[in-house]
Amino acid sequence: MSFTRALAPARIRLASATIATPRILSSSSRLYSSSRSSFNPHDIHNVSHSPEHIQTKLPETKLLKNHHRFSEFDLEDRVYAITGGGGGLGLSMAEALIEAGAKVYCLDRLETPHPDFMVAKEKAEKEYGGSLEYIRIDVRNVTEVNNVFSAIAEQHERLDGLIAAAGINHLQSALEHTQQALDDVMTINFNGVFNAATAAARQMFNYQQKGSILLVASMSGLIANKGMTSPVYNSSKAAVIQLARSLAMEWGRHGIRVNSLCPGHIITPMVDKVFQQNPAARATWEAENMLGRLALPEEFRGTALFCLSDASSFMTGSTLLIDGGHTAW
Ligand SMILES: NC(=O)c1ccc[n+]([C@@H]2O[C@H](COP(=O)([O-])OP(=O)(O)OC[C@H]3O[C@@H](n4cnc5c(N)ncnc54)[C@H](O)[C@@H]3O)[C@@H](O)[C@H]2O)c1
Repeated sequence: MSFTRALAPARIRLASATIATPRILSSSSRLYSSSRSSFNPHDIHNVSHSPEHIQTKLPETKLLKNHHRFSEFDLEDRVYAITGGGGGLGLSMAEALIEAGAKVYCLDRLETPHPDFMVAKEKAEKEYGGSLEYIRIDVRNVTEVNNVFSAIAEQHERLDGLIAAAGINHLQSALEHTQQALDDVMTINFNGVFNAATAAARQMFNYQQKGSILLVASMSGLIANKGMTSPVYNSSKAAVIQLARSLAMEWGRHGIRVNSLCPGHIITPMVDKVFQQNPAARATWEAENMLGRLALPEEFRGTALFCLSDASSFMTGSTLLIDGGHTAW
């Protein structure tokens, strides 16, 4: 089966969006306000909400070729798929894998990915020797998902991992929750993750290789989240946490690791929608957080690299809670 033919129903879109200004924050952003001579740890207003961009701390490209350091993080020649990779958290995680040398496929239902995708794609090829492709799919369509994963694996004769990040939120109280919204949230957040995880594992079995699968759940799968009335979303994420443990048990002896990630609040398009509906949520969430701020998607780059590389080779069935201390007090 040819790669292009197999992907035809899924309409491959090697995005041609215009390149936007690179997403690099000012190097002048500081943890402390420079206008004060002494830092008062009790004054949270004194803390910048924009930590210095992690990319500014990367070594020069030529230094990335030094394979002697931390070789367990090296992803050269490895192939990964990321659902929900058209923007937000998924795209930031894709960038991390690319910088470690991987070939990454972002799978999303968006007609064209976020403009940041084109910036990342150009860097992937020019600077890191990897590649970044976009394929439009709906994770609810099990046939489409299996065809796409099969075609990716056939193209490279391997599939090393998956990050299942496609998801939606829906704010509505339980008594008012519509059946349609219940179906949408569950079929994308749970069925979609199940479809992607099984499609990925099927290819790992096909090519008799080990692999790593990271299911993106949420801290909302562990707690009822103050300032966010979303009973079905929360439950869908609890189901994802449990799915990771169950799949880890089924596939561990075959060398396929499965973990779940529970992030706290991250500033992404999904959270922007919550703020449009409930502007007070931002202050509530910041106050509930030990760091007094929300996360940036880039702050999960290290998590993605750790989970998808051999650096986490003894970790499976785990639930990584990375929430700025939101659930710790
Ligand atoms: N932003 C947060 O605060 C936060 C916190 C905890 C967990 N999460 C989880 O992280 C993941 C990424 O969320 P995000 O914040 O980057 O949101 P986002 O809306 O920016 O990204 C989600 C992506 O999933 C895609 N998607 C939705 N339905 C799809 C479908 N049926 N098929 C294919 N793609 C589909 C969307 O198009 C979008 O690009 C989600 O699973 C979310 O629940 C987010």
